[in-house]
Amino acid sequence: MLDSKPTHAKCRVVILISGNGSNLQALINASYREDVHFQPVAVISNKTDAYGLKRAQAAGIPNFILNHHSYSTRVDYDKALIQEIDRHKPELVVLAGFMRILSNEFVQHYQGKLLNIHPSLLPKYRGLHTHQQVLDAGDHEHGVTVHFVTEELDGGPPIVQTKIQVLDNDNAESLTKRVQAHEHHIYPLATEWFAQKRLYLRGNTVYFDNEPLEKPLLL
Ligand code: GRF
Repeated sequence: MLDSKPTHAKCRVVILISGNGSNLQALINASYREDVHFQPVAVISNKTDAYGLKRAQAAGIPNFILNHHSYSTRVDYDKALIQEIDRHKPELVVLAGFMRILSNEFVQHYQGKLLNIHPSLLPKYRGLHTHQQVLDAGDHEHGVTVHFVTEELDGGPPIVQTKIQVLDNDNAESLTKRVQAHEHHIYPLATEWFAQKRLYLRGNTVYFDNEPLEKPLLL
C-alpha cells in the first residue's frame, strides 16, 4: 500500500505583521512550492486594518488580530502575544513588518527561533526611515538584512544581506521599491534555510551549513 504521508513534516511558521504584508505574501508564495520545507500556520497582526490580514485570508491561513491598545503595558501585550503564537506550535516566528518593540521576555522566549527583516545594511541605520537616512548621509550603497532577533533593537546577529547601488535620482520611494524587491527574495530564502536546519543560532553566533558566519552572507 502506498503511504501518502509526507516524508518530513514542514517547519511551522507563525508570521507577525502590522501592515501591507508584502513580505508575508512572498513567504506565502514561496510556501506553495512542493519542495519547500516551511508552512505558514498562522498570521497575527497588532493592527485591525493591516492589509496583510486580507492576504492571509486569501491564502486560507488562520489569521488573528491582537490589538495592542487593549493592553496597558508592553509586557502584558507580549505575554498575550506569546500565548496566541504558541497555540500554533511554531518552530519559527517571522517578523514581517511587525512594527512593535519587543520586550526582553518575548525575545528570550523565542531565542534562536525569531527572524526579522530590516531595510538597511545593518549595523547601519537601525530603527525607522532607513531609506531617508541613507539619502541624507549621501551613501552610495544600501540594502536589506535578515537577522536573528535579540534584545537589542535591530542588533541581532545578521544572516544574509543584499546590496543595491544608490542612484543620483533616487528618493525614499524608489529606494523602498528596489530594496523591497530584494526583501521578497531573501526572506523566504532565509526561512527555508532555517526550515532545512541549514541555519541556526548558537549563543550569539549564526551557523550556516554547520559553519559559524563571521559576516552575513551576501546575495
Ligand atoms: C519592510 O520594508 C521590512 O523591511 C520592514 O517593514 C517593511 C514591511 O513591509 N521590516 P511589508 O508589510 O512586508 O510590505
